Amino acid sequence: MEKKKVLLAVSGGIAAYKAATVASKLYQSGYEVKVILTNSAQKFITPLTFQTLTRQEVYTDTFEEKEPAIVSHIDIADWADLVLIAPATANVIGKLANGIADDMLSTTLLATKADVIIAPAMNVNMFNHPAVQKNMKTLSSFGWRFIEPNEGLLACGWIGKGRLAEPEELIEAVHDYFNEITNQKTLPLSGKKILVTAGPTREELDPVRYFTNHSSGKMGYALASVAKQLGADVTLVTGPTAIDSPEGIKVEKVTSAKEMFDQTLFHYAEQDVVIKCAAVADYTPVTVHENKFKKKNDTWTVELRKTDDILQTLGEKKEHQILVGFAAETENLENYATDKLRRKNLDMVVGNDVSKEGSGFGSDTNEIVIIKKDGSISKLPILTKEKAAKEILQQVLEMMEQ
Ligand code: CTP
Repeated sequence: MEKKKVLLAVSGGIAAYKAATVASKLYQSGYEVKVILTNSAQKFITPLTFQTLTRQEVYTDTFEEKEPAIVSHIDIADWADLVLIAPATANVIGKLANGIADDMLSTTLLATKADVIIAPAMNVNMFNHPAVQKNMKTLSSFGWRFIEPNEGLLACGWIGKGRLAEPEELIEAVHDYFNEITNQKTLPLSGKKILVTAGPTREELDPVRYFTNHSSGKMGYALASVAKQLGADVTLVTGPTAIDSPEGIKVEKVTSAKEMFDQTLFHYAEQDVVIKCAAVADYTPVTVHENKFKKKNDTWTVELRKTDDILQTLGEKKEHQILVGFAAETENLENYATDKLRRKNLDMVVGNDVSKEGSGFGSDTNEIVIIKKDGSISKLPILTKEKAAKEILQQVLEMMEQ
């Protein structure tokens, strides 16, 4: 079997010494291992250590190009099946979360399309700092995975969370990752790209006010999670919700209908399926006041203009994609839903009567009707949103097989 390629990226914390054990154990486990060391990492451990343990050249400098025909940071970015950053310092986490590329590690990480596992190690107060927490959230939204640091006595003398996970835990995470990839290949949606939109949008009126709707995002997040469990490569374009980003899913956070339009269109060409579950604002204020609008008259008339219909645009540009829309109605559900299916050139529409108990915005359940373009209609009982998501994706799968 071809060896799996792991790129171990080591940044400059005292835990860098543990990375030598990680490199050695990965090599002994049968992986092909290449190592990048930052300048700071080299203050703790030398390239020669890793070169000897992995039998590979070690990368330290973006500009030290040994072969004229090869740009090394792109070459190893493309080479890797998986990148493990261990230890990841607060500085490296901050740079990667903000797209800064000023050394071998950061340029390679910006260029790679491989999955990334990141193992932070730092002082407990640095780890808990809002800047670091925010940067880690950003990296999670790229679909990067984290191996949490352990708690205990830190090299700096503090006691708390910040110790690099033990080499055995890091090796296990690498094994688990490749096992998951192998298992995923046998899942029904493996190799398929699915984009889901979720939540409401917010249309700003002035710096303190906006128009929105009651969508909680629960149905869209359930669809994204179930699609991931079924093996799909999922992108979630979400308006503001109170739900945490699901693990292993690319999340694009947007606010307005315009931003949702741009992000969805940006990812559209490469998708196999798009499920437009979001409750997009149909109208947005014509004028957005720069300063807070002061209370004056007894009434305030706000002029609204239609937003671009995202789903309609996707329907017009449709090539190979399966397009699924939602129709949240309060009357004539089947008629309105079928009309949307035709008007927006959809393959399937999921209708729900939001005025019914157990089927409205914010609830954990939904009573849906699935209408396909061949005219078939499935009316489902009240289900949890997760079960409803499974039913929808099952029907999408059947369509793909046809
Ligand atoms: N939709 C969209 N872009 C918009 C409005 C709606 O992509 N600007 C999508 C929704 O995500 C949903 C579907 O269109 O999948 C139906 O949305 P809905 O608001 O029910 O329908 P509208 O076409 O806006 O019609 P109406 O408001 O008259 O019911």
